Amino acid sequence: MREKTGSAGDLARLLPDMTAWRRHLHMHPELSFREVRTSAWIAERLREFGCDEVRTGVGGTGVVAVIRGSRPGPAIALRADIDALPIQDEKDVPYRSTVPGVMHACGHDAHTAALLGVAAHYAAKRNGMAGERRLIFQPAEEMTPGGAVGMIEGGALDGVSAIYGVHLWTPLPVGTVASAPGPVMATEDEFELEFRGRGGHGGMPHETVDAIAAGAAFVQGVQTIVSRSVDPLEPAVVSIGMFHAGSAPNIIAEVCRLSGTVRTFDMNVRERVRERLQASAEAVCRQFGAEYSLDWRHGYPPVVNDEREAERFFAVARGLFGEEAVRRIRPFMTSEDFAYYLQRVPGCFMFVGAGNAECGAAWPHHHPRFDIDERAMLQAARLLVAMAEHRAEEAASA
Ligand code: NI
Repeated sequence: MREKTGSAGDLARLLPDMTAWRRHLHMHPELSFREVRTSAWIAERLREFGCDEVRTGVGGTGVVAVIRGSRPGPAIALRADIDALPIQDEKDVPYRSTVPGVMHACGHDAHTAALLGVAAHYAAKRNGMAGERRLIFQPAEEMTPGGAVGMIEGGALDGVSAIYGVHLWTPLPVGTVASAPGPVMATEDEFELEFRGRGGHGGMPHETVDAIAAGAAFVQGVQTIVSRSVDPLEPAVVSIGMFHAGSAPNIIAEVCRLSGTVRTFDMNVRERVRERLQASAEAVCRQFGAEYSLDWRHGYPPVVNDEREAERFFAVARGLFGEEAVRRIRPFMTSEDFAYYLQRVPGCFMFVGAGNAECGAAWPHHHPRFDIDERAMLQAARLLVAMAEHRAEEAASA
């Protein structure tokens, strides 16, 4: 028997390193597409490990590392995202962010550290490994359009047979892992809408067109899009997150600006919601005599796991962590640009439990006190390696 490339022991030895790397990144977060120091630091580590190739500047601030095994086999990609969020870190820990207003509040620092652990592991285990491992450190997951498209255009997936990625997840307790076949995360579109009326004196409304009244009617109206225009068995969300208008109590506002987000899984539902939203804006304008302009920004497509790759996840994860630790999730209405990779090659996006109230990892993602149980990085690294090895061995025995 060949020595198993995915053995837990040597990855476990890397947990102190992963923890140190994660804390370094946590202290020095950078925003989407501005991960200049982050990606230089990642590339430095990858060169130290002795990866066969380290490409920087992919898709802007991305890094791709290649490690080639001594046996023929498929190229398998593993992906981490590397960007932070515009949030002030309010944790009281030695490794809190040193950058005012910027924080790793989604765990991407830990994704990066776990994938560095995987890189170190593979760099030491090339002998006997089948095929190539392509490690993708992707910028700008947190903004649309995100960094995945640029990584793909930069060749990150060229020749790749399968791709796997993880998200650490504090709503799940540390020790558990989860995924599902088919759609697991939603499409996220954003819109900006402006109603333009005719401003005037608050005491003489009959001479004006009140943009606030139009905006308010619109907000009321769109609440029925999901309940009346979408199949009740199809998930959809319409949320208005911003409403800005007016300057004084006695002035009728000329302009009202709104923006919101639309989450769906099905492309027909997505288009239906967009049509109904536009029809609502038109109806409100006819009613009030106002005009509107709508700026619709298509966001990430849904994250759709390949059925067979999801089966692989359940088999691999049960083998690694035991039946009790493995969960099948229901889809989330959040979104992820891992979706773009899955549109091109089969793969699986997986959630790794990182919640533990005892070590302060009890806050939701994107919260100013967000933190993780750092042991989750080892679970993530083990899962990524085991998925890749399972896939590579399947190809070798085919
Ligand atoms: Ni995230």
